[in-house]
Amino acid sequence: MSSTWSPSSWHQRAADQQPAWPDVEGVDRALKTVASFPPLVFAGEARSLQSSLAQVAAGNAFLLQAGDCAESFEEFSADNIREKLRVILQMAVVLTYSMGAPVVKVGRIAGQFAKPRSSATERIGEIDLPSFRGHIVNGASFDPAARTPDPERLVQAYHQSASTLNLVRAFTKGGFADLGRVHAWNQEFVATSPAGQRYERVAAEIDRALNFMRACGVDTESNPILSQVDVYTSHEALILGYEEALTRRDSLTGGWYDCSAHMLWVGERTRSVDGAHVEFLRGVGNPIGCKIGPTVEASELLELCQRLNPAHVPGRLTLISRMGATRVEERLRPLLRAVKESGHPVVWACDPMHANTFSAPNGRKTRHFDDVIGEIAGFVQAHRAESTWPGGIHIELTGENVTECLGGADDVSDADLDRRYETMCDPRLNGRQSVDLAFRVAELISGTAT
Ligand code: PEP
Ligand code: CO
Repeated sequence: MSSTWSPSSWHQRAADQQPAWPDVEGVDRALKTVASFPPLVFAGEARSLQSSLAQVAAGNAFLLQAGDCAESFEEFSADNIREKLRVILQMAVVLTYSMGAPVVKVGRIAGQFAKPRSSATERIGEIDLPSFRGHIVNGASFDPAARTPDPERLVQAYHQSASTLNLVRAFTKGGFADLGRVHAWNQEFVATSPAGQRYERVAAEIDRALNFMRACGVDTESNPILSQVDVYTSHEALILGYEEALTRRDSLTGGWYDCSAHMLWVGERTRSVDGAHVEFLRGVGNPIGCKIGPTVEASELLELCQRLNPAHVPGRLTLISRMGATRVEERLRPLLRAVKESGHPVVWACDPMHANTFSAPNGRKTRHFDDVIGEIAGFVQAHRAESTWPGGIHIELTGENVTECLGGADDVSDADLDRRYETMCDPRLNGRQSVDLAFRVAELISGTAT
């Protein structure tokens, strides 16, 4: 099978969730343009992430994958990127400090622009328009011009990914992520919450540890281990023409890598074993994620593992379960058992967001913080019962003080949702809820949750 793979072999398979581009020649032109651009990431970086994920698969590290449901062409600014990084760094500090294990940080960032939809069209009143598929395809507002898929957006997605990634690299390598600045990551609106105060106490302990190291003669200022972090990029590999255009042969190993991001995942709606998305991803050398929902059967999951990681490479495959708080334990346990028996060295991550979404009385799509925590608790419980490692979490969040998910320490209510509901797609945890969640996760994993 592998011998017949090429970056374009997915064209022979059924590709779900592809936009109906009216301007087909425009798409060809745009993809040729993207194919002529430099890669966004280097294959060696994808391999480093894979080695770190191998540590997660072995139970020695934890994966934090987090960011927007969909990045926006409109809400694109340095502030926005910085705030998102800040909260990811805060969560990583809490998890690292509390669990005493390395945390592998992967953003849903610098390329997370495409959305699968349950219906190809949306009807309001008597009008039917193409559904919004993310800014790489069309605009969100309900008018015919905005909703018409526009190939120029493929090029714009590349450029926005490039500048976002550039800033992520600058922030993470240029001093912002220095552990000595651990207090400065606590934004004011987070710092005033109970989770923010708890975070301050962890930050103070880290300060004391750094002081101790300095007193012992360690140069904490110029040590990159303390002053820099690796934040990798990831997105759902949905628009396959775009992913193909950024797939390049690595000059060092000769292998193919999808250089649009370090890690790519296949979504719940497109993970059919014989479909185009799995065909595309099986041939690229990047670490790959696969979302799995409550309907997946063990036999199907094993086929996916075999197709995506036939060589059983540790760190190559992350299974991201999104089962729903009420059924995660029951659905997950047989899958954990089957994968373990098959010998596939996977990373198990929990997406506690996508199967806990519902509509509030005012029609807003939302999620309750308690359900999010509930799914993680069930995920950890299932792993404990099967003696497997609950390797990570996959979260939709923003650094902003939005009101999109209910509950949390501020007890965001139905009535609050309209106050700052800014997501372009699914509801995200705000900065306070995210830091709170990190503490809860650390307690659940170390078995100290009450
Ligand atoms: C997502 O991650 O935004 C998403 C659409 O998830 P899923 O494929 O699990 O539904
Ligand atoms: Co989402």
